[in-house]
Amino acid sequence: MKIAVLGTGYVGLSTGVCLSEIGHHVTCMDINEQKIQQLNQGISPIYEPGLEELLSLNMNAGRLNFTTSLSTGIAGAEIIIIAVGTPQADNGAADLTYLEQAAEDLAPYLVQGSIVVIKSTVPVGTNDRIKKLIESQTNFEIHMVSNPEFLRQGSAISDTLKADRIIIGSENKDAAEKVKAMYLPLNVPVILTSTKSAEMIKYASNAFLAMKISYINEIANLCEAFGADVEDVAKGMGMDKRIGEAFLKAGIGYGGSCFPKDVKALLHTASQIGLNFWLLKETIAINEFQRELLVKKAVKRFGDLQGLKIAMLGLAFKPETDDMREAPSIKLAEALSKLGADTIAYDPVATENAKKVIGETIKYANSIDKAISDADAVFIVTEWETVKQINLPDMLHKMKQPIIFDGRNCLSEENIKTCKKVEYYPVGKPAIIIV
Ligand SMILES: NC(=O)c1ccc[n+]([C@@H]2O[C@H](COP(=O)([O-])OP(=O)(O)OC[C@H]3O[C@@H](n4cnc5c(N)ncnc54)[C@H](O)[C@@H]3O)[C@@H](O)[C@H]2O)c1
Repeated sequence: MKIAVLGTGYVGLSTGVCLSEIGHHVTCMDINEQKIQQLNQGISPIYEPGLEELLSLNMNAGRLNFTTSLSTGIAGAEIIIIAVGTPQADNGAADLTYLEQAAEDLAPYLVQGSIVVIKSTVPVGTNDRIKKLIESQTNFEIHMVSNPEFLRQGSAISDTLKADRIIIGSENKDAAEKVKAMYLPLNVPVILTSTKSAEMIKYASNAFLAMKISYINEIANLCEAFGADVEDVAKGMGMDKRIGEAFLKAGIGYGGSCFPKDVKALLHTASQIGLNFWLLKETIAINEFQRELLVKKAVKRFGDLQGLKIAMLGLAFKPETDDMREAPSIKLAEALSKLGADTIAYDPVATENAKKVIGETIKYANSIDKAISDADAVFIVTEWETVKQINLPDMLHKMKQPIIFDGRNCLSEENIKTCKKVEYYPVGKPAIIIV
């Protein structure tokens, strides 16, 4: 099929690349000329494992093109996918400015019966609104399909090619079947539903996962106070099929471009009909508390952080991505600098993005070694493989004080216990102190 994709961010680009990989002819469009220029040279503007290889492969095969011109991209397209950003507005709602702009931009190039798919995460009722907006500019009917995306950054390609399910919501059966046919080569279970249910499935899923994280984090805080081990508790809970083991990893809270804004947007949707969604309010409150947990632990341990050298290992909101949106490291850096700590951070890929968000309130190192040398304490913020595999005796030897606050419970306790001198503070588990 000939497919057009609007927006070449994490979702649009991964989608476009994967659709070309399964044999479709895809043209990806963006208003950002620099991104399109880079993509035309086979360079991915984002860090996503495996993406750049598939990008070149499918460009060379002549199935994948990039342009800023909508007339070129949309001409003859059987399906037009919108994957532009829907960030958080000041009042917590989803900001649909980019989406509305994209809809207005593409309207002149549509034809009677065009199929417009919204892949961006949008509040219930948005597909109907966008249909009206487009049809107010055309004199013919178009068909909307809600097809929310569930990929995770860091594993976007495999998540797309091996999705758990594909949600297709439309009021037009033929349009829904056409989109289903587009995904047929993936051989993934498909749920056909209404546009409103499809829109709601996305928010209900993300809010549930965020709630699961906040739930286990609150259990972790209880475990810590009473001497239980949250990892054993999570394992014991997760083996119950009704609960499931995923998203029961205690730590310093969720971040990224989706959970924080999607939970707030669903809360906003609820508030529009006067519904107080207490569960979501608590999910957010617990997450806010959790993000500064390492600073609270350090203050408890040291009393005063003024002048102490703190090494932050990891800045990205999770491993295998350079995305800094709502990363817990931002709040940690702010809190540390307020308390007068001398913070130096290392991240294998997110440093440049981090500088734009955190700025010069902290220093940045280009290796773990440089970050930890002479440090009074290490904060583990992102569980990068290089951090998990760190040579502990070597690291502790280079630090001024052998103190580790592990916000991701990612160091091996067995290894910690073999150290000669260490203070190890994980989340929701007893500390290991060897003096
Ligand atoms: N990032 C994720 O992991 C993820 C996962 C699932 C769903 N989503 C949802 O998918 C959507 C996109 O997210 P993202 O992370 O890919 O966003 P992003 O910010 O990385 O990318 C959005 C892209 O859209 C482009 N754009 C904006 N307006 C445009 C227009 N009028 N025409 C063409 N291009 C335009 C921007 O230049 C940018 O390149 C959001 O609604 C998000 O909530 C994201």
